[in-house]
Amino acid sequence: MKILITGGCGFVGANLCLFLNKKKIKVNSLDNLSRKGSKFNLKLLKKEGIKNYKIDISNYKKISKLPRYDIVIDCCAEASVEVSRKDVDRVVNTNLIGTINILKKIKNDKSKLIFISSSRIYSIKKINSLIKNINNIKSKITVKTKINENFDKSAPRSVYGVSKYASEMFIEEFSYAFGIKYLINRCGVISGPLQFGRQDQGFVSLWIWKHMNKKKLSYIGYGGNGYQVRDVLHISDLCDLVYMQIKKFNRKFNNIFTVGGSNTNFISLKELTQKCEKITNNKLAIKKQSKTSIYDIPYFLTDNTNVSKAYKWKPKRNMDKIIFDTHDWLLKNKKQLKKYL
Ligand SMILES: NC(=O)c1ccc[n+]([C@@H]2O[C@H](COP(=O)([O-])OP(=O)(O)OC[C@H]3O[C@@H](n4cnc5c(N)ncnc54)[C@H](O)[C@@H]3O)[C@@H](O)[C@H]2O)c1
Repeated sequence: MKILITGGCGFVGANLCLFLNKKKIKVNSLDNLSRKGSKFNLKLLKKEGIKNYKIDISNYKKISKLPRYDIVIDCCAEASVEVSRKDVDRVVNTNLIGTINILKKIKNDKSKLIFISSSRIYSIKKINSLIKNINNIKSKITVKTKINENFDKSAPRSVYGVSKYASEMFIEEFSYAFGIKYLINRCGVISGPLQFGRQDQGFVSLWIWKHMNKKKLSYIGYGGNGYQVRDVLHISDLCDLVYMQIKKFNRKFNNIFTVGGSNTNFISLKELTQKCEKITNNKLAIKKQSKTSIYDIPYFLTDNTNVSKAYKWKPKRNMDKIIFDTHDWLLKNKKQLKKYL
């Protein structure tokens, strides 16, 4: 079996490349190396003999000339909601046109698609309305406030969110019209080694790195207290899931799943700070910026019921393991990573 992973030098893509390669699956990557850190991950791929096509995903002419793959795993995106507000063209070209280009290629080749979508396709307003006061938020989270596949998807969702949602719609249309078999995983926050965290994307990795290097950090939004909560999925748990999906693809396809850390793995920024202080032995004076971005949400907690049932899968690695593994990777590569972080 041959698999193409788009965004294969990014955080999710590179982890999938290395994981599937270990499982003796032939993988290639497609990545234009635009993300800071993608060149670091490329070196790891090269060491294992994994080829990367340095192609922009918005260039169909080049994509159409690639060899045939049995499955394409689409992990290529500009994955930041804040960037999506400032640079709509880049987000639409990479996230939406990119996915459509992959669909055209898959249609011609009669291949299958696994699409890494996002929890950001859900309505920001509706999530905000569920929990208004986020002090002591954990005690307010119930079965009703967990988010599953049927959750409200009305606007606003962010430009990033709508680019992923529109991609999902095109996938369904291509499947209906041309018989393409697909799986969509709508992921919440994912974290772990090979992630180059930024303020608005990859916060766990960013938090650990800033603590390690005694750099500045701010709690942004919701009064600046760090009470926002997210569930976090260890990248290895996602790799395990995607591997099961590949193995069962002939029997289970054309499904959409929400996938996340869920009940066992959720944390507020404030709690993350405490864990970072413990693991790095450094304490930062974290600034408060009370103003909330129009794209921020107070919490996200995934309902994994459907994906768990379909694959007998659930996250095995808890928050401490996520922090330990990310810290371990950052520490072991500290010198080289300074160039990218
Ligand atoms: N990381 C998360 O927490 C998270 C959560 C939910 C969904 N996702 C989704 O998972 C996927 C991967 O996210 P990630 O965290 O690995 O992001 P990432 O930024 O680390 O990786 C994306 C990769 O795509 C490449 N890329 C960007 N624009 C390109 C273009 N025009 N042509 C070719 N390559 C291009 C970048 O160089 C980068 O290596 C995305 O689709 C994202 O929407 C990620």
